[in-house]
Amino acid sequence: MTAGALFSAILGAVALQLVIWAVVRALRRPAAPAPSAPRPEAAAPTPDDRAWRAVRVVERQLEDAAGTQLSLHLAPTDGRPLGPGLPGQHLSIEVPVAGGPPLVRCYSLSGPAAADRLRITVKRAGQASTALHERAVVGDVLRIRPPSGRFVFAPDPGATPVLVAGGVGITPLIKMLHNGALEGGRPAHLYYGVRDHQELAFRAELAALRRAHPALRLTVVYSRPDPAAPPELRPDAVGHVDLDLLRRTLPAGRHRFYVCGPPAMMAALLPALRAWGVAEDDLRAEAFGPAAPSAAPAPTAAAPQLVQFVRSGRQAQWTGPGTLLELAEAAGVGMDSGCRAGSCGTCEVRLRSGAVSYLTPPDWAPSPGACLPCVARPTSAVELDA
Ligand SMILES: Cc1cc2nc3c(=O)[nH]c(=O)nc-3n(C[C@H](O)[C@H](O)[C@H](O)COP(=O)(O)OP(=O)(O)OC[C@H]3O[C@@H](n4cnc5c(N)ncnc54)[C@H](O)[C@@H]3O)c2cc1C
Ligand code: FES
Repeated sequence: MTAGALFSAILGAVALQLVIWAVVRALRRPAAPAPSAPRPEAAAPTPDDRAWRAVRVVERQLEDAAGTQLSLHLAPTDGRPLGPGLPGQHLSIEVPVAGGPPLVRCYSLSGPAAADRLRITVKRAGQASTALHERAVVGDVLRIRPPSGRFVFAPDPGATPVLVAGGVGITPLIKMLHNGALEGGRPAHLYYGVRDHQELAFRAELAALRRAHPALRLTVVYSRPDPAAPPELRPDAVGHVDLDLLRRTLPAGRHRFYVCGPPAMMAALLPALRAWGVAEDDLRAEAFGPAAPSAAPAPTAAAPQLVQFVRSGRQAQWTGPGTLLELAEAAGVGMDSGCRAGSCGTCEVRLRSGAVSYLTPPDWAPSPGACLPCVARPTSAVELDA
C-alpha cells in the first residue's frame, strides 16, 4: 500500500469513529417529549378538601436501621373513607407540641393505596417531627387535611419514569412505585441516595417490589458508606445521585424525572437535567422545605414595594428576595405559618389591595382575594389583612 493510500485509510477510519461517536451521543441525550397530560394545577378547593379530619394512629413502624424514619398509619375515626390520595401527594397534619398550639406540617403519602388508612413516613429533624417520633403512639387521635398537591405521577407511554430520591425524599416516590410507575410491567428506575446503609429506608419493601416487578431498576447510592456494612447492603454507587451517574446508567430514550430530595441535591440536579436537554414537562420535583428550590427556573429580580399590614398598623419596604411572610416576621407582625412552602394553607391571608406573584406555584390554592405569604412576593404596593 502506498503512503497516500495508507493516509486515506486512516482518515476514513477516524471519520467513521467520529460518526459513530456522534450517533451514540445523540441516542444518549433525552428525546424531545411528545405532548402529554398537562401538570395538575392547584385545583379549586372544595370545603371537604379544606376540612380537618380526625384520624387515629393504627400502626407505627421504624423504616431504617438508624431509627430516623418513622411510618405512621392513619385511619379515619368516623368511618368515612379518607380517599387514597394520588401518588406523590401529601397531607397536612397538626402535631401537638408541649407548651404551645399544635404545629402544622406536611408529610407525603408513602403507603400503597388502601381504602381504610394512609401511611406517612417522618424523618426525625426538628420540633414537630421529633414530637411525632417521641410521642405519637397507636390509639392517638390527630387531625389531618386530606391529601393534596401537584407533584403527582403522570404516566406517559412514551417516557420511562426515573424516580430520584435523596434521603427521606423517598416517601412520595415509593408511593409512586406502589401505585402507578410499575403498572403494566413497564420499566422504571429508582435512584435512591442516602448517607449509609443504616439510613436506607423501606429495605424489605423495595426488595419485594423488585421481586414482583423485574422491570424495576434500583440504584442505591451511599454518600458515606460504612466499610463494615454487610455485603448484601453494599451500594451500587458511592457519592451522590448526579447527572454523571444518570447519564452513565440510564438506557437511551426519553425519560420523565421525578425528583425529591434535600436542597443541595435539588439545586445541583435540576439545572443539570435541564442543561442536558430534559424538557420541563419531563422534570417534576417536590421540595420538602422553604429553602429548597422548585423545579421551575429561578425567578427574575423584582422592584422594591411598600407592604402595609393593615390590622397591626405596621408597614415595611419589600426589597427582595425574601417572602412576604419573612418580611412580616422581620417587621414584628404575627402571622400563622406551617409548611412555609405553599403546601398547607396555614399562612393564608386576605390581600386587601395590590398584587403578588409566587416564587413557586403553591400546592394550596388560596381562596379568591387571599394569598399565601410564605411563597409570595409583591409585584405592586400591597395591603395585607395582618
Ligand atoms: C409538600 C411537603 C411534603 C413533605 N413530606 C415529608 C415527608 O414525607 N417526610 C418528612 O420527614 N418530611 C416531609 N416534609 C417536611 C416536613 O413537613 C417538616 O418540614 C419536617 O418534618 C421538619 O419539621 P420539624 O418541625 O421537625 O422541624 P422544624 O423545627 O420546623 O425545623 C426545620 C429544620 O430546621 C432544623 N432546625 C430546627 N431547629 C434548629 C436549630 N436550633 N439549629 C439548627 N437547625 C435547626 C431542623 O433540623 C429541621 O431540619 C414535607 C414538606 C413538604 C412541604
Ligand atoms: S405556611 Fe403552609 S402554605 Fe404558607
